[in-house]
Amino acid sequence: MTPPRAAVVGSCNVDVVVSVERLPGRGETVLGGDPVRRPGGKGANQALAARRWGSPTHLIASVGEDADGSWLLSNLSAHGVEVGFCQRSTRPTGVAYITVEDEGENLIVVAPGANNDVRVPPDLDVDLVLCQLEIAVEPVLELLEREIPVVLNASPAGRASLDLLGRCSVVVVNEHEASTLDLAILEHCVVTRGRRGAALFHSGREVASVPAPPVQAVDTVGAGDVFCAAYALEWARGVDPVDALRRAVYAGAYATTQPGAQGALPTREEVVSWIDADS
Ligand code: RIB
Repeated sequence: MTPPRAAVVGSCNVDVVVSVERLPGRGETVLGGDPVRRPGGKGANQALAARRWGSPTHLIASVGEDADGSWLLSNLSAHGVEVGFCQRSTRPTGVAYITVEDEGENLIVVAPGANNDVRVPPDLDVDLVLCQLEIAVEPVLELLEREIPVVLNASPAGRASLDLLGRCSVVVVNEHEASTLDLAILEHCVVTRGRRGAALFHSGREVASVPAPPVQAVDTVGAGDVFCAAYALEWARGVDPVDALRRAVYAGAYATTQPGAQGALPTREEVVSWIDADS
């Protein structure tokens, strides 16, 4: 089967990452290592992961008219993501301030900037769209109005209304986000559980779960994005849901083995062979 044609409508950020022994408490200052700047943003991460998984992929995003915006777009384009629908905004390129603890826990604050100006092009012709919520909700609503199948990674969850979530074909959230939502209203929801893998829910009822394979994890930032891209593309191909879940869990685990949100992106073939070797 030919791979589905995907579009990702989402954010493009510069990740400013600092490692700390432990995350600061409220009102506390802690000292960390040297700051590192890396390309990131849930939209860009998911677009790159989808491309690497084997699908022709458009990213629909908005970056500033600044050097960071040019850097992010040329990085995406160099890795085969179609960026022709990306826009330049008068706002600054989005920045994610990421603090990573030695134990692997992280805290992220996103200053969306130009991400707030994402617009969906009128002539978008794809099999599925993968969205997240580091952008405004209007583009997602517009896609739903046009009856394009939407897989929504409802992260951060605060922006999602129940109406919006209920109209998406698939919703993917992490455990923390799931605890803030009423999963019963979602026909098809996937909850990621970090090292414990992921589970599939139908109308609030858990119907399957898959454990994660053991890996030497060095950085979990972006692992959820790789999971989302793999799951969305397997779902669009009509792969059995438990197989799709297992492939996505392995893809997410693979992503934790190198630093950076875009540091380790697997191909579909790599993941399928890894699962075969494990079973
Ligand atoms: O999911 C990881 C991403 O979240 C990072 O790349 C950062 O940009 C934040 O948006």
